Amino acid sequence: MANTTMANMNTNSNSKEESKKMDEREAIPLLTPYKMGNFNLSHRIVLAPLSRSRSYNFIPQPHAALYYSQRTTKGGFLIGEASGVSDTAQGYPNTPGIWTREQLEAWKPIVSAVHEKGGIFFCQLWHAGRVSNYEYQPDGKAPISSTDKRLRKDIANNKATADKYPPPRRVRADEIPKLVNDFVIAAKNAMEAGFDGIEIHGANGYLLDQFLKDKVNDRDDEYGGNLENRCRFPLQVVKAVADEIGADKVGMRLSPFADYNDCGDSDPHALGVHMAQSLNEMGILYIHLIEPRMVTQFHKFDGTKSSLTPIRKAFKDGTFIVAGGYDRNEGNEAISCAAADLVAYGRLFLANPDLPTRFQLDAHLNQPDATTFYSHHPVLGYTDYPFLQPNPK
Ligand code: PHB
Repeated sequence: MANTTMANMNTNSNSKEESKKMDEREAIPLLTPYKMGNFNLSHRIVLAPLSRSRSYNFIPQPHAALYYSQRTTKGGFLIGEASGVSDTAQGYPNTPGIWTREQLEAWKPIVSAVHEKGGIFFCQLWHAGRVSNYEYQPDGKAPISSTDKRLRKDIANNKATADKYPPPRRVRADEIPKLVNDFVIAAKNAMEAGFDGIEIHGANGYLLDQFLKDKVNDRDDEYGGNLENRCRFPLQVVKAVADEIGADKVGMRLSPFADYNDCGDSDPHALGVHMAQSLNEMGILYIHLIEPRMVTQFHKFDGTKSSLTPIRKAFKDGTFIVAGGYDRNEGNEAISCAAADLVAYGRLFLANPDLPTRFQLDAHLNQPDATTFYSHHPVLGYTDYPFLQPNPK
């Protein structure tokens, strides 16, 4: 059992009282409806993409159907965990892929479980780039990147495995079309698996971020140097995917301010605004920004909330999602002051499968147990976080 006990759960009788209370309450900003393109969302609390490392041998498993369906509400928006787009994309054990027929078929019952409860489910497409190791690469080759510089051990997210990140191989410009095509095929696979759309992972120091950020990208061809060049490959990916499945089904996650995985930029504002402007021109559905206040996934500092405003303004026609350690009050405030349209919750949603109900009731929250975030157990720390009410459907 996760680190919350049954003692925190309510009884049947007070759950009746609670639903009465819920009916009487005015909806909090996070629980107001929102139209995201063609999708009618019943509230603004999004399940953030969370790697859970329970997809053995890169194949999504049946237990993920329960995990995602537990976190589904009718009209709720969920973003699936990072899914590798090709056999060079993986960098951690037991993360799912979406490049083979077997993976695609394995996603189908998981997506169906979310749809059965009326959720809207996007697949996050991911390439780890240099945050990988020979053991995850075909024929034991070096991982690929924009650069041949290896990730600095003292800065890697996961210090225990940092030694394992070898010097990457710098991809040649003539290899880029194949990499773009990998994202396109993965997006098609995701749509065939039944997902409602896809999110391109351009954040947290993985392959696309390794092109975007000038502290990593040291190329002197058309994919390096100035801002426009550094954004070229990630934007080519978005354009090609949008052309294939429709821009109205495409989102992108970005973390211009973050330094995760030794991947920072000297001018994150300019980077964020340039990407937002370009993505707005492409007419994609949403951008999903990780707040500057996040130092790592696990620590936040009291940074400035307004620093995303120019990026939001630049992405003027689409939906703006924010993420980064928000609590209930901060999320409500972000919605009510129009700093964001939607707020993605990671750790709180991981630990509270009924997070929207708990926010509505301002109820007690289960605490996330970081020791089981990436454990490979099919139940512990995964589908055993308790609901407020016993025997939830
Ligand atoms: C992340 O976005 O930080 C991330 C992605 C994939 C993983 C773990 C973390 O497997």
